[in-house]
Amino acid sequence: MVTIKSVKGLQVLDSRGNPTVCAQVVLSDGSAGVGIAPSGASTGAYEAYELRDGDKAFYGGKGVTTAVENINNIIAKELCSLISPTQKTVDDCMIELDGTENKSSLGANAILAVSIAFARASAESHKIPLYRYLGGVGKKTLPVPMMNILNGGAHASNNVDIQEFMILPKGVTFAESLRIGSEIYHRLGKILGDKGLRSGVGDEGGFAPDIESDREALELICEAIVSAGYGFDKVGLALDVASSEWYRDGKYYMPKRGIYMSAGELIKTVEELCKDFPIISVEDPLSEDDWEGWCEITNKLGSSVQLVGDDLFVTNTKRLNMGIKKGAGNAILIKPNQIGTVSETLEVIDLALKNGYKSVISHRSGESEDTFIADLSVAVNAGMIKSGAPCRTDRVAKYNRLLAIEDTLL
Ligand code: PGA
Ligand code: ZN
Repeated sequence: MVTIKSVKGLQVLDSRGNPTVCAQVVLSDGSAGVGIAPSGASTGAYEAYELRDGDKAFYGGKGVTTAVENINNIIAKELCSLISPTQKTVDDCMIELDGTENKSSLGANAILAVSIAFARASAESHKIPLYRYLGGVGKKTLPVPMMNILNGGAHASNNVDIQEFMILPKGVTFAESLRIGSEIYHRLGKILGDKGLRSGVGDEGGFAPDIESDREALELICEAIVSAGYGFDKVGLALDVASSEWYRDGKYYMPKRGIYMSAGELIKTVEELCKDFPIISVEDPLSEDDWEGWCEITNKLGSSVQLVGDDLFVTNTKRLNMGIKKGAGNAILIKPNQIGTVSETLEVIDLALKNGYKSVISHRSGESEDTFIADLSVAVNAGMIKSGAPCRTDRVAKYNRLLAIEDTLL
């Protein structure tokens, strides 16, 4: 019987240079796995709790030494005493140990890092790739990358309020999709340079120019797609409005432009953008607290556009069940650290599937070399993955892992 021999936490840095939790799990047969928790900037109010030290003398209060100590002093002891640990018993054990609704006692960052590390160690112990351990032996398909090639909102210090402008290149293989995306990305960089626009990048690797409007961002991307030699049959557009960031007292305030909009005006704006551009997916068009607005936009656009709940659903079965009952959205963004364990992440994906909601697997704006989400996207045949632009190793690591998985599957 394989048991857990050791569990160890370590404070490491994420792609923004902020501390995050790394965990290592070693099993009694010598198999080992590492997991690193990511971190969001435009976090939803209903996400599981990211435990930070708050001591301003170190890392401006962002240290995670308490979360790491929770792994070393509390989680390790309990997990090492489990008789026949499985993903479910390991995750349930940590949920019970924590004892809070939002994992605020031990920290979702501590719990997720261990949960991922255990998944990796178990895959190694079974001598199967991580995506097989997570998703079984059935047929596997590679996802289409949703590449955030122009960044705004909380991810960039420019004047663009919409957080993400994405392209979905649909090649015959993942490798082809990635090539198309990369070619368009570089073409966009050249176009921005030729126009004298700043071509520095934001947190997710997309360019972050100062431009006139959201429309101009979409026009520039369309120009890049055509100039790279592709048509809109092969390349779709997607937005992450991230509008929870704008919501104040029932109204939406775009901070960079200083404009107020009602929910009705925001819905109209999104509708017009979808009419004028080949947009096939819109994430968080309304706030996490605006169920009424969400139902209205789903009635209007839901039959033709993918409407993805990120802050709305926070990878949480309770929140997704509320959305299913009300008829809000038709897809869910899956970010494992919003809920805090691998098992709960798989449960919410299953609930989505059973209710006709699409799942989009996603990174966070603060990432690391951990490629867990790449395996997850293949394991559950999600069809789509968000891992930013084809730029910055924290983003590209996931795409490179998908290339390697595809290479073994073909
Ligand atoms: P976050 O952004 O990781 O900063 O929350 C990603 C998203 O909103 O999809
Ligand atoms: Zn989002």
